[in-house]
Amino acid sequence: MSTTLELDDQGTRTTGGPQVHPITDTIGADITGLDLENLTPRDIRFFRQAVLDHCVVRLRGYSIDDDKQVELGRYIGALTGSSVRRDKEFDWSKKYPELVVISNIKENGETIGVLENGELNWHTDLAFDEVPPSLSLLRALEVPESGGNTGFANMYKALESLPPRLRQRITGLRLKHQRSHDAQGRPRVGFEHLSADDVSALPGPVHPLVRTHPDSGREALYLGRRFGGYIMGLDVAESEELLDELWHYGTLPENTWHQEWQVGDMMVWDNRSTMHRRDNFPAEQRRRMHRIVVLGSKPY
Ligand SMILES: [Fe+2]
Repeated sequence: MSTTLELDDQGTRTTGGPQVHPITDTIGADITGLDLENLTPRDIRFFRQAVLDHCVVRLRGYSIDDDKQVELGRYIGALTGSSVRRDKEFDWSKKYPELVVISNIKENGETIGVLENGELNWHTDLAFDEVPPSLSLLRALEVPESGGNTGFANMYKALESLPPRLRQRITGLRLKHQRSHDAQGRPRVGFEHLSADDVSALPGPVHPLVRTHPDSGREALYLGRRFGGYIMGLDVAESEELLDELWHYGTLPENTWHQEWQVGDMMVWDNRSTMHRRDNFPAEQRRRMHRIVVLGSKPY
């Protein structure tokens, strides 16, 4: 779905109500003036269109709690969760079972969330699911003094950046997104017995390398995770070589931007047109994020 916005030369909405302010020419925009207490269908259309246009939007300076975050997610679509099992079971929110806490904070010797404090490689959320999420909504409750920034890459631009021979080469090719190992190469719960030596044998769904965004109609490079990726029908060595080349173009610095978090920020990104990553941060500093994801559709 789409709606026509009245924009000036800078891309700022000129009529009343919410406004969108691009952060870079490539990716990211702030949305100001959204009345979260009285959201209208027009506001939701505006919000969705801003995410489509800028791939990532930031809500800064608003007062957002779990209720508001979930409400906004549900206005956009059905909330969903990860299909992979975690190291341990958490009971974060009885009210919202779809809410995930991403944190390194320890209470009574136990971490209260997932993903700790290390660097997280470029990835797209839950690409290893048959039906990956459309949007992710991530909100900062505590941020470290240094590090922990989140980078975003525009995958429309990544596709446009490919040399013509490479663009031609991947036409029609499909990528297996293994689900047995995380982006750092560690086996997930239940897959400890699986060796990743032969990536062609790892379990996971197969999605097209170039996907068409169901709402924008635009084509984007869809890489998921580098670790364990395998391009169907190729020798593993050939697949590795081609993936290395695609990942080079998929993460060109000129197509990326890094968000420096402030407490209260909520980032909403489109997993169909972006990848993201996280810088590491000092283990002794606290970082706490709440994330929900909105159900998408099978990539085509
Ligand atoms: Fe992620």
